[in-house]
Amino acid sequence: MAGKPRAFGFVGLGNMGSMMAANLAAYAERNALPRVRIWNRTRSKIEYIAQQNHCKISNSLSDLAQSCDIVHTCLANDQVAISVYTELFTSSSASIFVDHSTLFPTTIKALQEQASHFGLKYLSCPVFGPPAAAKSASLLIALSGDITAQQTVKEYIVPTLGKATIDCGEDPAKGALLKILGNNCILGTIELLSESFTLAEKTGFDVNLFYEFIQAWFPAPAWVNYGKKIRDGAFSGATGFTIPGGMKDASFIRTLGAETSTPTPLIDQAWNHLCTAKAVGGEDLDWSACAAGMRVTAGLPPFKGEDFTLDKFK
Ligand SMILES: NC(=O)c1ccc[n+]([C@@H]2O[C@H](COP(=O)([O-])OP(=O)(O)OC[C@H]3O[C@@H](n4cnc5c(N)ncnc54)[C@H](OP(=O)(O)O)[C@@H]3O)[C@@H](O)[C@H]2O)c1
Repeated sequence: MAGKPRAFGFVGLGNMGSMMAANLAAYAERNALPRVRIWNRTRSKIEYIAQQNHCKISNSLSDLAQSCDIVHTCLANDQVAISVYTELFTSSSASIFVDHSTLFPTTIKALQEQASHFGLKYLSCPVFGPPAAAKSASLLIALSGDITAQQTVKEYIVPTLGKATIDCGEDPAKGALLKILGNNCILGTIELLSESFTLAEKTGFDVNLFYEFIQAWFPAPAWVNYGKKIRDGAFSGATGFTIPGGMKDASFIRTLGAETSTPTPLIDQAWNHLCTAKAVGGEDLDWSACAAGMRVTAGLPPFKGEDFTLDKFK
């Protein structure tokens, strides 16, 4: 495909996908490529994106798949990805599919096999970084799947969508596995921060000063960004990663742990705290609201700053 004009598509313009699609559209515009075809289940959410960017809304998945060479996707979960890809693959003139969703490795393998059946290439390219990093194209992208298709994607994916890639080889399940292992670290960090900030508050230590320590001693994005959210109780999921997404990823970690007899105690605890946070504040909270669940277990009110308490609990 190198050298050929490219028509891109993007499917799934949620918190992450909307930012990535806008960056892909800017790349297409700079390179005099066709408008990026976009499709989202809820069309009303992407009308503004289409107006503001070098994009065109497709009326259906098959319409999109027939107008593109390369289709990127960023979808909520495995069930959604299976249903969307079944439609994309059966009606496609695109040759490469680049999936940024976080999915379980066996789902990825099944999607790759389905793609091969139609003579198509499916790459698993999950990303590290929150929506703000997607917006500034500073994601870390795991690349895995067919090597020739990877070469094509590598021509533009950095710096268009991310700042760097980690090459996980030809088996697309490996990209998915890296993403799950990475999220083990990130959710583990959130759990540890939840405990530490709760302990700081209960021992009467100034949480701002504690956050200063975090910034000085753990200057990594997950610590600094989630530390700030937890310090402030800033748990809106509108610009982050919602609890159902976080619980999906926690369940992936726990399933891999169960399958390999590897205990995952930190994530088991985080799962419980996410459950509690969901019960008191609902599904729209960011997964950093794990801290709200922890606070409840320590006898503190779940929320400080903005009150996310569900009406029925008021
Ligand atoms: N947020 C993060 O910080 C982050 C970071 C790295 C990776 N991820 C991964 O990226 C993926 C997307 O996350 P996100 O935070 O962008 O989630 P999100 O905002 O909830 O977006 C999910 C996307 O999936 C679509 N969708 C949901 N149900 C669907 C259905 N039944 N049929 C078709 N489309 C459906 C949504 O469409 P509607 O708009 O119609 O609901 C939306 O486009 C997930 O796999 C997540 O694990 C997220």
